[in-house]
Amino acid sequence: MRILVTGGTGFIGSHTCVELLNNHFEVIIIDNLSNSSATVVADIETITNKKVVFYEGDVCDKQLLEKIFNQHQIDGVIHFAGYKAVGESVQLPLKYYNNNLMSTTTLLEVMQQFNCTKIVFSSSATVYGEPHANPITEDFPLKTTNPYGSTKLYCEQILKDFQFANPEFSVAVLRYFNPIGAHCSGLIGENPKDIPNNLMPYIMKVAAKQLPQLSVFGNDYPTVDGSGVRDYIHVVDLAIGHIKALQFLKSTTGFHPFNLGTGNGVSVLQLVELFKKVNQVDVPYQIVARRSGDVATNYANAEKANRLLGWKAEKTVEDMCRDAWNYMKNHSN
Ligand code: NAD
Ligand code: UD1
Repeated sequence: MRILVTGGTGFIGSHTCVELLNNHFEVIIIDNLSNSSATVVADIETITNKKVVFYEGDVCDKQLLEKIFNQHQIDGVIHFAGYKAVGESVQLPLKYYNNNLMSTTTLLEVMQQFNCTKIVFSSSATVYGEPHANPITEDFPLKTTNPYGSTKLYCEQILKDFQFANPEFSVAVLRYFNPIGAHCSGLIGENPKDIPNNLMPYIMKVAAKQLPQLSVFGNDYPTVDGSGVRDYIHVVDLAIGHIKALQFLKSTTGFHPFNLGTGNGVSVLQLVELFKKVNQVDVPYQIVARRSGDVATNYANAEKANRLLGWKAEKTVEDMCRDAWNYMKNHSN
């Protein structure tokens, strides 16, 4: 199969391209490099010893998409491209609605035009808002707490309505929990240019002495040690979930949401201690007030993905800490 990967030079996209190539898929990437670097293409090729076709451009650019679909017989699409910073989405909601929604509708229009009927979409556990219980199953009520989350929920609805109107389409919506870690080669991973919002990139910048200390947002939640609990998942496990989803879509139609998580909750303080132990580094931290909008606990029931996709997260939190740091050591400049 020949797969178009939008946002393929980003964090999750690059790891997924590696798994696609390792599983004998052909890969075409479109990315506008708004949050990634073109050097990632060469890194993907080095890891896999295979070639990818790369288009630098915007998924909202319909003419470019038509050109790509004209030049290549594309069998399926994985749509990662989008903006993802929660705080920025509160400040600049239109930037998020324009990019995340328009890239999705433009892509669907062109897929329909070229009779390409299989799409895997990057969604997020953020669509569950503050869950009434844990673990979270796919049938929990959907609601969001910020514009970024709303773009994910609206894209899910667009895909659902589109699939209903076009029953020959098959759509997998993958709701990621908290992806961290990096490829074991240390060549690709996550290294935000600005001060990170998410926990693992922040821990790494503190461990690398680029930031003085971590702020732990709250120690008075009703959790094991008072700090927030999340379902951290290794990005390579997540990438493999996309391969399984594509294989599933081959023989089915319909709209299919799946949780991709480990099913295990880990607290902020537990993650910090594991990171220190596994990597033998110091991560100074202070406890500060809760971050507004945070929930106490959030972890997946990923049984549906296990049952229907034959997928299960295999890697441990220790693997996530080791691989993330291995990447960071190679890229700290
Ligand atoms: P990322 O920013 O590393 O990757 C996204 C890529 O899309 C970047 O390379 C960026 O340059 C590109 N891009 C953005 N808008 C584009 C456009 N209009 N046209 C072409 N390229 C465009 O993010 P990521 O962490 O790899 O996330 C991938 C997807 O998964 C996103 O849709 C994100 O919302 C979703 N997601 C991520 C997480 C997470 O924790 N990383 C969690 C849940 C869901
Ligand atoms: C956040 C987003 C979510 C998005 C996900 C992946 C919010 C409210 N949610 O999830 O929509 O899908 O990232 O991009 O922003 N923490 C600290 N100190 C820090 C950073 C985080 O203590 O410097 C804590 C948080 O309070 C939380 C945990 O670490 O308990 C994980 O935080 P983070 O990595 O930002 O992910 P989420 O908040 O789960």
